Amino acid sequence: MTATFQALPISEHVYWVGAIDWNLRDFHGYATPRGSTYNAFLIMADRVTLIDTVKAPFKDEMLARIASVIDPARIDYLISNHAEMDHSGCLPDVIAAIKPDTVFASPNGVTALANHFHLDREIVAVKDGEALDLGNLHLSFVETRMLHWPDSMFTFLHEDGVLFSSDAFGMHLATAERFDDEIDPQILEEEAGRYFANILLPYSALITKLLEKVGGMQLPLQLIAPDHGPLWRGDLARILRLYGEWAEQKPTKKAVIVYDTMWGSTEMMARAIADGLQAGGATPRLLSLKSANRSDIAHEILDAGALLVGSPTLNNNLFPTIADVLTYLKGLRPRNLLGAAFGSFGWGGEAVGQIQEILTAMKVEIVAEPLKLKYVPTPEDLTRCYDLGQTVAAALYRTITGL
Ligand code: FEO
Repeated sequence: MTATFQALPISEHVYWVGAIDWNLRDFHGYATPRGSTYNAFLIMADRVTLIDTVKAPFKDEMLARIASVIDPARIDYLISNHAEMDHSGCLPDVIAAIKPDTVFASPNGVTALANHFHLDREIVAVKDGEALDLGNLHLSFVETRMLHWPDSMFTFLHEDGVLFSSDAFGMHLATAERFDDEIDPQILEEEAGRYFANILLPYSALITKLLEKVGGMQLPLQLIAPDHGPLWRGDLARILRLYGEWAEQKPTKKAVIVYDTMWGSTEMMARAIADGLQAGGATPRLLSLKSANRSDIAHEILDAGALLVGSPTLNNNLFPTIADVLTYLKGLRPRNLLGAAFGSFGWGGEAVGQIQEILTAMKVEIVAEPLKLKYVPTPEDLTRCYDLGQTVAAALYRTITGL
């Protein structure tokens, strides 16, 4: 009888030995409605090598998958491409269990692992461009600082053409399938984009440089193996092209309106603004925080040209859901957005000014006067909202066309 938790061969010398987290719904504040995977990889070389580990609760599952190929105690090298807990949470226990001869990480990874786990053994630093001889196979390392943490790096297996890319090119998607060409391409693009927007967006400029660097290395790429989601073996050019586009954040005519509402007035404003945007040639996308979450919004602005935010005033402040989403978006540092602020109020009306301040701090170009209306909008008030939408649409048109 076959044992549970088998390893899956993914190339001539490499097995997937990770874990599928079907029930993950929150990854440090990023909503993950489709779960995730933690990918770890076993290289069956003369020097048997494990690339990354998994989140702590899945350690035994990973070790069982390894044991379906080889006694885990025969692993010689352990390489940590990234110290974040979803990949290193069980690292101390795995080191204790398999006793590898050497554990490798980037120079920043050595520090990060020390700060996390206070290990009583040496972690050996490998630098950008350094090679590691596994006997019959060969690895080299590419430092990818800030993608996603300062310690992140890629590892490349030359003989099989496998790029172990850590968080880059990954997605939070739990599936029985392990390869991109087995999964609906629309789901792949949606979840890869969602991951980019929620995890990698602040580092877009570094991604552009990294894509140039990796392209210049002319690696014989057969497979891109990230630490989350499916492995890319089909159209590799497609995910590389998408990353290039997302990193560029070129404005489009899509205008995202994010709002919340207490008694429906700010929602009436949002709907009239959307109508004005559409009449002006933009493509509005209306998102109430009663149904969308901060991760949805981050994803929506990835390919947008404008961000309009509406909030009622509650106790002299932003509505809490709006404060939440603006804090989150500010940290993601989106670029190349136009915007405007609006909202209904009863007596203070401070929220609209607060939105405008935050959008300005985010370097969103404000292209319309902030609009705040008392209590319930009149038909004339809604015309002012419609006009605001048209003003933003016209500015967006000028930005996109340069006319
Ligand atoms: Fe998948 Fe930055 O950890």
